Amino acid sequence: MGYHALYQSWKDDPEAFWLDAARAIDWDEFPSAALNAENAPLYEWFTDGVVNTCYNALDRHVENGRGDQVAVIYDSPITGRQSKTTYSEMLDKVARLAGAMQSKGITTGDRVIIYMPMITEALVAMLACARIGAIHSVVFGGFAANELAVRIDDATPKAILAASCGLEPGRTVAYKPLIDGAIEIAEHKPDVVFMFQREECVADMIEGRDYDWNAVQEGVEPAPCVPVRGDHPAYILYTSGTTGAPKGVVRPTGGHLVALNWTMKNVYNVDPGDVFWAASDVGWVVGHSYICYAPLIHGNTTIVFEGKPVGTPDAGTFWRVISEHNVRSFFTAPTAFRAIKRDDPKGEFAKKYDLSGLRALYLAGERADPDTINWARDLLGVPVVDHWWQTETGYAVAANPLGIEELPIKVGSPSVAMPGYDVHVLDEGGNPMPAGELGAIAIKLPLPPGTLPTLWNAEARFRKSYLTTFDGYYETGDAGMIDEDGYLYIMSRTDDVINVAGHRLSTGAMEEVLANHPDVAECAVIGVSDTLKGQLPVGFLCLTTGVNRPHEEIIAECVKMMRDQIGPVAAFKLAVVVQRLPKTRSGKILRATMVKIADNQDFKMPATIDDPAILDEIKEALQTLGYAK
Ligand code: COA
Ligand code: AMP
Repeated sequence: MGYHALYQSWKDDPEAFWLDAARAIDWDEFPSAALNAENAPLYEWFTDGVVNTCYNALDRHVENGRGDQVAVIYDSPITGRQSKTTYSEMLDKVARLAGAMQSKGITTGDRVIIYMPMITEALVAMLACARIGAIHSVVFGGFAANELAVRIDDATPKAILAASCGLEPGRTVAYKPLIDGAIEIAEHKPDVVFMFQREECVADMIEGRDYDWNAVQEGVEPAPCVPVRGDHPAYILYTSGTTGAPKGVVRPTGGHLVALNWTMKNVYNVDPGDVFWAASDVGWVVGHSYICYAPLIHGNTTIVFEGKPVGTPDAGTFWRVISEHNVRSFFTAPTAFRAIKRDDPKGEFAKKYDLSGLRALYLAGERADPDTINWARDLLGVPVVDHWWQTETGYAVAANPLGIEELPIKVGSPSVAMPGYDVHVLDEGGNPMPAGELGAIAIKLPLPPGTLPTLWNAEARFRKSYLTTFDGYYETGDAGMIDEDGYLYIMSRTDDVINVAGHRLSTGAMEEVLANHPDVAECAVIGVSDTLKGQLPVGFLCLTTGVNRPHEEIIAECVKMMRDQIGPVAAFKLAVVVQRLPKTRSGKILRATMVKIADNQDFKMPATIDDPAILDEIKEALQTLGYAK
């Protein structure tokens, strides 16, 4: 069946479509229904099914003869180390860690924070939680102690599973001081910390709370799988929203299994046994879905890559990994390709490797610019599939589903809606926009299985953030259009979220940090276009009257505060002091207009602007940073 027929078959009978997809999962009890609309507009899927995620990711493959197949390849150009772990070995590691967790009182429904770099043990930790029905929340290593503390207080974990350090090029990031610092700041105190000691940096342990990863497993019984209901939260993943408080996206167990498994063949066109590689980080949704869960659920080999697209050691690293491990489908963020292209514009490195096994490249996480897509396609000679999704959805809303049918590629578009998603472009009043015209992108409810049913401990925020603007729809926060062939174009965000090197960040959270500087009276942070990272944050600071210290000093302090409080991943290095900020008469800062000035785009003078002359001052300030030329 081709794409259009399949999409129509879903539309005609979504219940049958998803129950059929659910048959590819091994359930302890098959669900009596797919959709549960009892609490509409809050929806659930496979509510009364009983299932275990880890069983589907590991045990069943061992039982079905894949025990000796490599499940996880760890490839670390930073350390020069590699390892291969088979499905049987993964099962053993996971069951033993899960047993150790149980021995410390961690049980089904308890939350567990995972703070780990890109090593095999990060996947072991996630799957060990899944095995006993504990709800993990992975926190990205590039966040500072304060951000970790915010997540500890929201998720109230019983345990933290961590490694002693992460490795950035030229820098060892010791995790233990960050963890200790976060626990000190947080009101909630986890009972235990399991620490995987890496040889690059050995963590000091706190007696009675911290346990060595290996020692704590000695003599414990491996844990069996604990079946949970379909609506049991598999994990919470915090993502940036408009305010400083991150949103805890909840992932439900049943839908997660069914939907991710479905995407592996239909979207990524791999068969069980094939090597699939997503070069991201377990701290992001791409890492959850496509480094850990989906490839393993589907019986693929996944790669945990600890390195960067450039500099570890060079712009040929990706090609080495693809050729050495015979990667079939490869997924990364456009920014990684922009980094490679900048270092190796002619693609000389790619010529040194046999890339004939690669069948397609998938890009997501930010807008894929046509230059990057064309360059990648010419270099690799395979289809380059831009696909669009969010932490909230957990998998692609729109894609070119190569496993179903290769649709014509329109460069600049992530192609078409996947079955499960009824995507619309609406005007401010919620009316549909004609084909080709810009508006807010919204998805008709219900969202499909595996997408977020709510936010952790924050149902009211869930409703307000996603369900109230357009009645009967999920508001994506993205703006764009759909052309007459049904192809989507994602142009920008409608909120204050920015995207820096494929990392989703909140300018609101950054403003909260700047506002805490004693000399800053008022501030704004905007995302300006950047040829490498897509966007970069720029801060505007209005100083308290009477402050006459050098501006560079204050700016340097602000940059440090951002690094200390949000983390290096904020990539906040640019700020400028201004006398005033442009505002509407009601006091709203005109951030969107400032972005247009920075990016040299035409803009309409906002009718409600308080004093248009301020925009000239903003332009001059941006020019000192090299923007708004
Ligand atoms: N732990 C600690 N620090 C981290 C980190 C981690 N896991 N990840 C990134 N950082 C740090 C970096 O070292 C850098 O620090 P610096 O300011 O001291 O240089 C800072 O955070 C910013 O990182 P980043 O924006 O990633 O920039 P970079 O210069 O290190 O690398 C790219 C640029 C394009 C090579 C890199 O961003 C990249 O590979 N991006 C791919 C993005 C991706 O996979 N996104 C996931 C969504 S699909
Ligand atoms: P995250 O939740 O971190 O995955 O970020 C999701 C956001 O990244 C989306 O809402 C979009 O703004 C952006 N994004 C992700 N994929 C794409 C894409 N293919 N094209 C354009 N924007 C994208």
